[in-house]
Amino acid sequence: MRIVFLGPPGAGKGTQAQNISKEKKVPHISSGNLLREAVEIGTDTGIKARYYIEKGLLVPDQIVVDIIKDRILKNDCTNGFILDGFPRTLSQAKVLDEMLKELGNKLDLVFHFAVSKESIVLRLSGRRICGSCGSNYHVTYVPSTRDGFCDKCGGFLNQRADDKPETVLERLRVYREQTEDLIAYYRKNGILKEIQSDARIEVITKNILDTIDTLSEKKYLALE
Ligand code: AP5
Repeated sequence: MRIVFLGPPGAGKGTQAQNISKEKKVPHISSGNLLREAVEIGTDTGIKARYYIEKGLLVPDQIVVDIIKDRILKNDCTNGFILDGFPRTLSQAKVLDEMLKELGNKLDLVFHFAVSKESIVLRLSGRRICGSCGSNYHVTYVPSTRDGFCDKCGGFLNQRADDKPETVLERLRVYREQTEDLIAYYRKNGILKEIQSDARIEVITKNILDTIDTLSEKKYLALE
């Protein structure tokens, strides 16, 4: 299954990608995580990307496309992947289609996470990330057992630098201007599924899994 999670900042893409990746045993590829790793290590890519991420702007297409291409060509992606946060522009979407075509594949599903602005603000202001293993928490909705520390590895929990209110507003503006057009693009391709993302985490996970399983059954029956 080759799947894209599309939606505004804080819609819950990363949370759901972690859950679905575990259930379906396909890698979760987050363009944001890959870029933040590059920033942390201080690679040339990371140094260039940092400027844009801190301002809440999109990193130039070529930088992101190169990172994603390298990742998708790794062996663990042979049976599929979940792309979280990529593509984010029409040009990235077209490059992805071309790349998959060259590999003899195509996208199976694009989930569009629809969520209210109120939820976005509450979710991003309370999000905490483990500085060691990257696990995702929320002070109210997904609290860690020991305040400020990761349940999985004991690392410190931090707030993401781009979750400051003024940067969140900029990220939302950028989403509306540069990414929202992808909803129509994938709807036209017939692979868009709407996900009501104001619901509880477990409810959303079940809806996504049900949609994936229905599609897998249809594909199986078509082969018989
Ligand atoms: P990226 O890291 O992709 O950020 P984003 O798309 O803005 O999404 P977020 O990670 O903020 O939110 P999410 O939807 O994953 O929500 P989450 O599950 O964490 O990108 C960051 C930056 O990198 C960009 O601004 C850009 O500069 C650059 N970049 C990345 N990709 C790029 C690309 N393709 N092109 C160019 N530039 C790119 O949930 C949020 C919180 O809510 C968590 O605390 C979670 O616990 C909680 N939560 C989740 N679901 C629920 C629920 N159902 N109920 C209650 N709480 C919930």
